[in-house]
Amino acid sequence: MKSLTGPDVTRRTFLVSSSTAVAATMVPGAARGAPAAAPSMTTTALEVNGTTHRLELDTRVTLLDALREHLHLTGTKKGCDHGQCGACTVLVNGRRVNSCLTLAVMHDGDRVTTIEGLGTPSTLHPMQAAFVKHDGFQCGYCTPGQICSAVGALDELKRGVPSHVSASLATVPLVTADELRERMSGNICRCGAYSNIIEAITEVAEGKA
Ligand code: FES
Ligand code: FES
Repeated sequence: MKSLTGPDVTRRTFLVSSSTAVAATMVPGAARGAPAAAPSMTTTALEVNGTTHRLELDTRVTLLDALREHLHLTGTKKGCDHGQCGACTVLVNGRRVNSCLTLAVMHDGDRVTTIEGLGTPSTLHPMQAAFVKHDGFQCGYCTPGQICSAVGALDELKRGVPSHVSASLATVPLVTADELRERMSGNICRCGAYSNIIEAITEVAEGKA
């Protein structure tokens, strides 16, 4: 059979030269002489769950990594790290935020509440108690983000902030299942506990929890 690599190139020499070329492209920039840029550090003060922390942080550190890696508050979860799942939701000055999408240095002086700051095992926040009562979780990975997001969603409703499904922009939206589903749509639950989550939030909204 005719060789595809030509008479002077054996299969062995072809593979050796190809792998050498690939290896050359994998040499890191630093090894090729391009020095890595020194990190830009800054001191950031975060009030987290009532305690002020002064952290010396690389300016590229996200709020999520500051919480998990620097303060060791691992209740806030990293799901996608791309703003798509809501597992990292925390409250910043009372408003819900995807902590993977915001840099810690942008929150100098801000008040951050994580799931650890909402309640304790012996004194649960009403939203935590309602999630337990209504089985609003299975594996629990999304749950800290769901609960922080639910607290923020009810606060938005109380302040009259409309959503895409609100009937009117001029009146305070009602707490309906559609409103809650829309407002919680950024929090993904791979276990599919959605209907129980809506029941839990509704109970808190109605003041029964
Ligand atoms: Fe932040 Fe998924 S980890 S939205
Ligand atoms: Fe498992 Fe939501 S309870 S991902």
